[in-house]
Amino acid sequence: MLSILMRSRGFITEQKLSSHDVLTKEEVLPLLNTKYIGGEIIYLDSVDSTNNYARDRAAGGCSEGLVIIADMQTAGRGRLGRNWATPKASSIAFSVVLKPEIKPFKASGITLVVGTAVCRALRYKTSMDVGIKWPNDIILNRKKLCGILTEINAGMDVVNYIITGVGINVNIKEFPEDLKDIATSLSLELGNVVSRKDILVSVLSEIEKTYEDFKVNGLNNIMDEYKSYSVTLGNFVKVTSINDIMEGEAIEITDDGLLVVKLKDGMKKKVISGDVSVRGINGYI
Ligand code: BTN
Repeated sequence: MLSILMRSRGFITEQKLSSHDVLTKEEVLPLLNTKYIGGEIIYLDSVDSTNNYARDRAAGGCSEGLVIIADMQTAGRGRLGRNWATPKASSIAFSVVLKPEIKPFKASGITLVVGTAVCRALRYKTSMDVGIKWPNDIILNRKKLCGILTEINAGMDVVNYIITGVGINVNIKEFPEDLKDIATSLSLELGNVVSRKDILVSVLSEIEKTYEDFKVNGLNNIMDEYKSYSVTLGNFVKVTSINDIMEGEAIEITDDGLLVVKLKDGMKKKVISGDVSVRGINGYI
């Protein structure tokens, strides 16, 4: 196979010379058979963060389902104030604007909805054992494959809009030293260059299906599937939140998506948010 290797800021990425794997509206739209997710697509060669761009559009009153796709992000954002790298032409980085008519306290469910949808699409497309680390890190072979950042804009009683941003490592051949042991990509795991377009279309379609269900049934129909993908349940975890660190066994995910951790003294604590590391053979991920 003829391929081209590119090096940037510690990442080595790979593209097939023959393929036309760009994520422009013209390339993506004909393959997409969703009703409204991707009804409008904005493609950018480069942007600071697709979530920022989507937020500005949503604040200006765009329609639900707008998808912002970038070939590269210069200041991609992760959860808990972290950075997210999107090297050129090798990853998928997109954000979707959602406007569910739900009470603000239900909006965090979107995190699990999108996690389930992305995991399902990646399992289907790769036939690999892709999993979810609570709440929605997508994991493959104990390394992070994909991150999801969901940001909610709500008033006291109404959700104005939700931006959910998804970053998938697709054709990254080598990660910088600090990420090598904790991050992976589809091409590294599959051993071949992967079509970003194909993955993106499948992920958007699963997001729409799962979100449609959520709007009618809440998390009722999603939780069993979500739990079946969980790499957190049944394992020892370390939860780092603003105020404290706790360690224990992740014994349950509640119907509203909270993680229940059983501490050494037998006490059970519900985790609403925070950074969860899962202890396993190769340490924590
Ligand atoms: C995480 O795991 O910490 C979440 C990473 C989310 C990254 C995606 S890439 C597209 C969108 N734009 C951003 O700036 N972040 C999200």
